[in-house]
Amino acid sequence: MSRSAHPAGPRYADVLPEGHYSAPPADLNALDPKVWAQTVGRDEDGALTVGGIPVTRLAEEFGTPAYILDETDFRARARAWRTAFGDDADVFYAGKAFLSRAVVRWLHEEGLNLDVCSGGELATALSAGMPADRIAFHGNNKSVAEIHRAVEAGVGRIVLDSFQEIARVAHIAQSLGRRQRVQIRITVGVEAHTHEFIATAHEDQKFGIPLAGGQAAEAVRRALQLDGLEVVGIHSHIGSQIFDMSGFEVAAHRVVGLLKEIRDEHGVELPEIDLGGGLGIAYTSDDDPREPHEIAKALTEIVTRECEGARLATPRISVEPGRAIVGPTAFTVYEVGTIKPLDGLRTYVSVDGGMSDNIRTALYDAEYSVSLVSRSSDAEPMLCRVVGKHCESGDIVVRDAFLPGDLAPGDLIAVPATGAYCRSMASNYNHVLRPPVVAVADGEARVIVRRETEDDLLRLDVG
Ligand code: LLP
Repeated sequence: MSRSAHPAGPRYADVLPEGHYSAPPADLNALDPKVWAQTVGRDEDGALTVGGIPVTRLAEEFGTPAYILDETDFRARARAWRTAFGDDADVFYAGKAFLSRAVVRWLHEEGLNLDVCSGGELATALSAGMPADRIAFHGNNKSVAEIHRAVEAGVGRIVLDSFQEIARVAHIAQSLGRRQRVQIRITVGVEAHTHEFIATAHEDQKFGIPLAGGQAAEAVRRALQLDGLEVVGIHSHIGSQIFDMSGFEVAAHRVVGLLKEIRDEHGVELPEIDLGGGLGIAYTSDDDPREPHEIAKALTEIVTRECEGARLATPRISVEPGRAIVGPTAFTVYEVGTIKPLDGLRTYVSVDGGMSDNIRTALYDAEYSVSLVSRSSDAEPMLCRVVGKHCESGDIVVRDAFLPGDLAPGDLIAVPATGAYCRSMASNYNHVLRPPVVAVADGEARVIVRRETEDDLLRLDVG
């Protein structure tokens, strides 16, 4: 049987043992600043406000479901990363978390660079005016056309992911009369998960060139010989939603080991090291992420120490946070539809979106919290499961949550920390239309990605 195959019904109908659930929060109306965007609060009527605007007004104007993005918070987080790493390092925002032209402009203004991993992301970045030399181009299977476009545009670096790509990029760059700056992505043999550090099966995945067996060293050797390439550094990305810095520590140790090997063999000290992204955020009050300045300090110290040990000049460090910048800045607001109490189990609360706007719960068993946001309530908490409107029993937005017992159809509820990997992974499943992204700042709200329409759907269906 396939490892992931499971009968969807029984799996999701599992009833957890009594006492499994944490107690309901002391105050269901409280909005934990750890999971909500910076400018979120409640007004005197009890409605959630963001950037000074009540969510009820946003829902009226833009409809539901909608992703509401706190631009002030986004800029503050981007700036915090930039400041934490200072002028001797580079911060590349990972566009895969969420990308739109407005976001590209904010990043540009705040002095960040951008990591893209497809022709589509590259096109978005360029069309919003991100200078090409501040763009890094990633991917394990970049097409010839994508490479061509990236080199022609003059991207600051292409992160090479395989032996074939080394030859391919060199050839394309040369044919265009260019020398392309490149980093080589290696797999260092660590796989980091939240709170966990697993050193097994690490090389059994599609990204990068394994350090093991001298493959990464061989890749650098080959790349150094090619006229079309300027090898500027080594790249390592160890995973996502990581809280524990020990994975980065081992990764940095191994990358620096390779830099030393390259220096000893070729007399070349590569000037850059990229430690990737993957820094975790709080999805629920139980999560404790680190601040950018703590992360910057820890990573810089690790690399400096390792380089001193290897008698190498400390290379310029770069990082690629996606989730840690955009994740906490947005929430998804839904309207409550049907409410179905199942005796002795829990109450199913259906909303007007679901797995098409947030696949992370179904895909990764991700945990979220949820709050009533159109009003406050003093009713007793009820154990709920927030589900979507799709034709699947696995269509779950929040698996276990407490909402007030007087919840009623028409109420608005919101799920915080949906800024990363929700809109960017949204689908049209069941021909449900993808929600808009509304940016809010200083009392103003504007659509930065509009709601999909039935016309959009039918335009692609050529009959
Ligand atoms: N750099 C590289 C090379 C990456 O592959 C990624 C993420 C990042 C940076 C940014 O990672 P972040 O800081 O956002 O964790 N869809 C999954 C996450 C996939 C991440 C893929 N690569 C999720 O929803 O959790």
